[in-house]
Amino acid sequence: MSLHPTTDRLPMTLPRIAEKKRLGEPLVMVTAYDFPSAQVAEAAEVDMVLVGDSAAMTVLGYDSTVPVSMDEMVMLAAAVRRGLKTPFLIGDLPFGSYEASDEQAISAAQRFVKEAGCDAVKLERGGSSVHRAKAIAAAGIPVMGHVGLTPQTATALGGYKAQGRTANRALDVARDALALQDAGCFSLVFEAIPAAVAEELMPRIEIPVIGIGAGAATDGQVLVFHDLLGIHEGLSPRFAKRFANVKVEMVAGVKAYAEDVRARRFPAAEHTYSIDPEELDDFRAAFGAETALSSWEGLEGF
Ligand code: KIV
Repeated sequence: MSLHPTTDRLPMTLPRIAEKKRLGEPLVMVTAYDFPSAQVAEAAEVDMVLVGDSAAMTVLGYDSTVPVSMDEMVMLAAAVRRGLKTPFLIGDLPFGSYEASDEQAISAAQRFVKEAGCDAVKLERGGSSVHRAKAIAAAGIPVMGHVGLTPQTATALGGYKAQGRTANRALDVARDALALQDAGCFSLVFEAIPAAVAEELMPRIEIPVIGIGAGAATDGQVLVFHDLLGIHEGLSPRFAKRFANVKVEMVAGVKAYAEDVRARRFPAAEHTYSIDPEELDDFRAAFGAETALSSWEGLEGF
């Protein structure tokens, strides 16, 4: 895989996303948080990139998604934009940036579009988020909903665990999904719900659904960049299939560098710059004269 693909891919647009659903072509979404991860997503030719608030944990070191601020998210999204040409770019509205009022939600969504160049935004939950989604869509910004396990409100959901596992809780998920669709969302994320519940819901959902831990019936899948590449350690949810083990490679690389520095094997001749021998002689002579002079001047006060 080259970082500079030769194919001239068309930028992904809302009509093309909807068309893929219609044709039954799976949509591929991945998260990205900076310029290099965006370049990887571009080169891998994914359809959609989400600057997820999972950035709080994967790249900013917080212990949940709750603390990440709008300023931090905009900064990360702008870096992703610089590394991305073709995939559709979605900014994830962080906790506290959209719940208070429609005005707050619209101005946060506008920041993602104006300051970071995002194509769309995402928010979590049903309930009052349905009104916020409607307001954002009415302001002309495409919005993606997110139901099932919604990490921003994991405490209220009883922790990071699968949702919709009883008839009543599955109904809650279904109602949230339909309400967000009616509110004008262009797409939905189903996170951590039983595959059988997703299968029941899919015929009722006209907009593309991207699943994460929701089985194979959804229109597409999303995974967190750091989970799928194995960039971080620690517990991963059952749905986070690891397709590579990049952290092991990175640690091995930095260790090899440290060993070479300590053994004076690095840098070698091929890593250094040369100077014409005559120039070096002239430099030695001039530098020698200058240092002799300045040490003489240093003695002048005695
Ligand atoms: O923040 C995130 O990465 C997400 C995806 C898991 C959908 O919301």
